[in-house]
Amino acid sequence: MADNAGTVYDVVILGGGSGGYACALRAAQLGLQVVLVEKGELGGTCLHRGCIPTKALLHAAEVADSSRESEQFGVRSTFEGIDMPAVNEYKDGVVARLYKGLQGLVKSRKITYVEGIGRLVGPTTVEVDGQRYEGRHVVLATGSAPKSLPGLELDGRLIVSSDHALRRDSVPASVVVLGGGVIGCEFASVWRSFGAEVTIVEALPHLVPLEDEQASKALERAFRKRKIGFELGARFAGVEKSDTGVKVSLENGKTIEAELLLVAVGRGPVSQELGYEQVGVEMERGFVKVDAHCQTNVPTISAVGDLIPTLQLAHVGFGEGIMVAERLAGLDPAPIDYDGVPRVTYSEPEVASVGITEARAKEKYGDDGVETVTYDLAGNGKSQILKTAGFVKLVRQKDGPVVGIHMVGSRVGELVAEAQLIYGWEAYPDDVAQLIHAHPTQTEAVGEAHLALAGKPLHAHS
Ligand code: NAI
Repeated sequence: MADNAGTVYDVVILGGGSGGYACALRAAQLGLQVVLVEKGELGGTCLHRGCIPTKALLHAAEVADSSRESEQFGVRSTFEGIDMPAVNEYKDGVVARLYKGLQGLVKSRKITYVEGIGRLVGPTTVEVDGQRYEGRHVVLATGSAPKSLPGLELDGRLIVSSDHALRRDSVPASVVVLGGGVIGCEFASVWRSFGAEVTIVEALPHLVPLEDEQASKALERAFRKRKIGFELGARFAGVEKSDTGVKVSLENGKTIEAELLLVAVGRGPVSQELGYEQVGVEMERGFVKVDAHCQTNVPTISAVGDLIPTLQLAHVGFGEGIMVAERLAGLDPAPIDYDGVPRVTYSEPEVASVGITEARAKEKYGDDGVETVTYDLAGNGKSQILKTAGFVKLVRQKDGPVVGIHMVGSRVGELVAEAQLIYGWEAYPDDVAQLIHAHPTQTEAVGEAHLALAGKPLHAHS
C-alpha cells in the first residue's frame, strides 16, 4: 500500500520546471500541503537546457569577443581559441550550483518531492509509478520541447536542436541556423563569437520578428557587421546529409552548406499521453487552454508555463505559478498583463522590450494616435565607453502614457527593469523626465528618451 494512501494534499503539481516549482514554493509558503512530481531534474528546461546554460555560453562568448577585440581599448592580449570542454565545465558548474540550491529550497519548504513520470488519472489525482497522489487541486506544468518541421529529423549529430547544441564538445566550423527567433539569434551570436561561420534562415521578413521592426533592423545591422549571414523571407525546403555536414536548400532556390544545422523553429507543449484529454481538459494545438487565472475548464485543474499558449518564457512560468498558488490559497491575485512582461534576447547586441510595438500601438490608437522617439546610444557616454551601438525607442499613446519601450545594444537587457516599471505604472514622459539618472550609465539613455518625448531633450540632436 502506498504510504501516502488516504492523504489528500492541497495541491499536486505535475512538472518541476520554472512554472511548477514556483507554484510549489509559493503554495508551501502560504501553508498548503504540496506534492511536486518531476520525471527528470528539478528546475526543468530553464535551468538544465535553456536560460541558464545558454546565458553561460553567451557570457563565454562575450569574454571571447573582449579578448579578441581588446586592442580597441589599448589592452594587448592574444585570443588563442575556445576550449569547449572547459566552457562546458564552467557552464555545467553554474547549473550544478543553482540546481543544488533549488533542491535545498524545495526540501526546506517541506514540499513532498516525487521523482518519476506522473500521469493525470482524474480531476484531482496524479499517478506516479502505480502510486496515486490526491489533491484538492492539480496544477499541470509539463512544459515544452524543441519542435522540428515535418520530414526534418533531428539526429543529434548533424541536425540538432538547442538541447543537443548545449552539449557539444567542439565548435562547429560552420552552421546553418533554421529560425531567426530568440533561440536562433542567441546561438548564432555564441557560435560567431566562438569563430564559426553562421547563416540564419528565417521565413518571416525579419530576425526576432515579434519585436518592433526598428529593433529587428538594428539587430540585423549589427549581425551584418559581425559577419553573421542571414536569409530573410526564406523558407526551408530540404536538407541533404553527407559524412561531413549538411546541404540546406531553401524554397528560393539557394543552397547553403555547413557542418551543422541547428533547428530553432519554436518549442511545442509537452502534453501527449499524460492523460489530459482523457480527464476532459480542453486543449488547443497541444496546448492546455486556461482562463486569465490559469484555470482549465476542469475547475480543480490549473495549468502554467510553456504548456499553455502564453509567452514561452521562464519568468512568465514563475509568474503564472505564483498566481495559481495564491488563488488556490484563497487570495485574490490579479491576472497577468502579458504585454507588461519584459522580453530579452541575450545576443550581442541584446534586444530588450516591454509593452507593445509601434505597429501594434498604431492598430490600437490609430496612426495619428501614437508618438515615438528614438534615442540613439551614440549620445550615451557609457555606451560609447563600451563601444556599443543601438537605441532606446519609446512608443506613447498621444497625450497619454508610454505603452512600449524597445531597446537594442550591449547590456540593454539590464535596462528592461526600469522600462517595465515605466510601462507598469502607465507613466507619462514627464513623470520619468524628472527622475535623475546616474551618470555615466546606460540607464541615462532611458531618462534621455523620456526627456526628448517630454519636449526637453538634453543630449539629443534635433
Ligand atoms: P521562436 O518562435 O521565437 O522562433 C522561431 C522562428 O523560426 C520564427 O521566427 C519563425 O518564423 C521561424 N520559422 C518557422 N518555420 C520556419 C521555416 N520553415 N523556415 C524558416 N524559418 C522558420 O522560437 P525559438 O527561437 O525556437 O524559441 C522557442 C521559445 O523559447 C520562444 O517562445 C522563445 O521566446 C523562448 N526562448 C526565450 C529566450 C529568452 O527569453 N532569451 C531564449 C530562448 C528561447
